[in-house]
Amino acid sequence: MHRSVAAGGPSAADPEWFRTAVLYEVYVRSFGDANNDGTGDLDGITERLDYLAMLGVDGIWLTPFYPSPMADGGYDVADPRAVDPSFGDLAAFDRLVEAAHSHGLAVVVDVVPNHTSDRHEWFTAALAAGPGDPERDRYIFRPGKGADGAEPPNNWPSVFGGPAWHRAADGEWYLHLFAPEQPDLNWANPEVLADLEHTLRFWLDRGVDGFRIDVAHGMAKPADLPDLPEEVIEQQKRWAEMREREDLFAEHDADTPPSEGEGDAVVPSSDLDEAADPRWDNDAVHDIHRAVRRVLDRYPATMAVGEVWVRNDERLGRYVRPDELHQAFNFRLLMAKWNAADLRDAIEKSVASMAASGASPTWVLSNHDVPRHVTRYGGGAQGVRRARAGALLELALPGSAYLWQGDELGLADVDLPDEVLQDPAWERSGHTIRGRDGCRVPLPWSGDVPAFGFNAGTTSWLPQPPEWSALTAARQAEDPASMLSLYRTLLDLRREHPAISGGTVEWYGAPEGAMAFRRPGGLICAVNTGSTPVPLPPGEVLISSVPLAGGQLPSDAAVWLI
Ligand code: NOJ
Repeated sequence: MHRSVAAGGPSAADPEWFRTAVLYEVYVRSFGDANNDGTGDLDGITERLDYLAMLGVDGIWLTPFYPSPMADGGYDVADPRAVDPSFGDLAAFDRLVEAAHSHGLAVVVDVVPNHTSDRHEWFTAALAAGPGDPERDRYIFRPGKGADGAEPPNNWPSVFGGPAWHRAADGEWYLHLFAPEQPDLNWANPEVLADLEHTLRFWLDRGVDGFRIDVAHGMAKPADLPDLPEEVIEQQKRWAEMREREDLFAEHDADTPPSEGEGDAVVPSSDLDEAADPRWDNDAVHDIHRAVRRVLDRYPATMAVGEVWVRNDERLGRYVRPDELHQAFNFRLLMAKWNAADLRDAIEKSVASMAASGASPTWVLSNHDVPRHVTRYGGGAQGVRRARAGALLELALPGSAYLWQGDELGLADVDLPDEVLQDPAWERSGHTIRGRDGCRVPLPWSGDVPAFGFNAGTTSWLPQPPEWSALTAARQAEDPASMLSLYRTLLDLRREHPAISGGTVEWYGAPEGAMAFRRPGGLICAVNTGSTPVPLPPGEVLISSVPLAGGQLPSDAAVWLI
């Protein structure tokens, strides 16, 4: 197989590099804006690779940069084998891959197989064709119910609010589990898989090291598209109410566990067994992942990580069977409250769900779909303090970690004015759900005023708050006590220290409110989420999230020892 860009990332040394890698999620719109139009672009990433190499990550995951009307931040793809002009072109992509590899960084790109944009040529053709025409069969068109077919074909809600069906001009309805501008593909049509295989090979031939597969638990739907049971609809409503109160993450407790039942954390849908929700985790999805794997197996040292919001551990484990995906995101840590018992439970279940298939666990504290963890952990000084401890926790765990851009700067969500909001959830919810823009504000790089070096100008597609002047990468790089310095040291230790090795965690007894575990290589990580100090476990301190004194681990702090 020809690979146009020589692999020089971590894959060069270890074909299974991803099992322990730290990957950094780059939200292309918000990372670096080389052409100063207010939106990030591929050249803006290439220019900033020194920073990522200095930070010490092993690779980058690029969110979609394909031609898109941006109805859902690029997850509405009009052409999966090209670059949106606002982000650059294929030559810019090739430059980025080559430069990343020469910095020793792997490149993982997003693919979006559950749906396309409504501007994809297939969908334009489907709309132009009539009911029953083969062009319609690439999507999920159905006649409506009721008099004149004026009712949607079933009761499925869309993840972004409202029904999951939109009526075309000729009266048929099409399915969109996300926005109406994101029609769902019909995975029963073999052309759909052939096209995904083509897309995978296209980017592999340009040198990418892997894929992040969007909504990897979606795609396959039962042929009869049965109604959702009433309990699931009720549960959806309860989650919608929680979102309105903006306490989605704060309110979970043992009897109302967070749901990974459906698509996005922005709209988790169900705390019931997801088998009750026919929209997700249909068994037929595994045939698709096997086909993806067959493509990847012809390109040595490449990988796929699925975005899999499935709560049942056994069912989650199925996505990473040896002939399916290499990894599945596991959002338990992200959904856990800041308390030792919840965090430990998340870790135990995550490790167990992957161990059954021999896959490596993945750890995520934040991404472009959820409030940043500084905010979820209480915001302000408390949120930052806990996020520092969270970094020690996440990076001590076996498997791979996926950092969200800005985690390393300790950014919190930004309170944006209504008029700049772009997330489709804002409009679709009738302005009750603000959506995910608050975590997507362009990064502050340098200087004292916006756009803080994101570009050479003063504005960006989402406005940065003036107080980010204290959090720029340039300022933090020179401050040994900064979040950035903490991440650099942790990543350095993780790469170099022999104690940070071995694929399991062995739990230590710990006082109420605290937890401690040991990696087989000898690293001990202790975290105190309680309000009073606890004694440090025995050992030599490698690093701590706050200064230590008197052999104690203070509240909201973590430590690594050997
Ligand atoms: C998951 C992506 O992370 C999210 O941003 C997007 O809105 C949905 N999938 C739909 O593609």
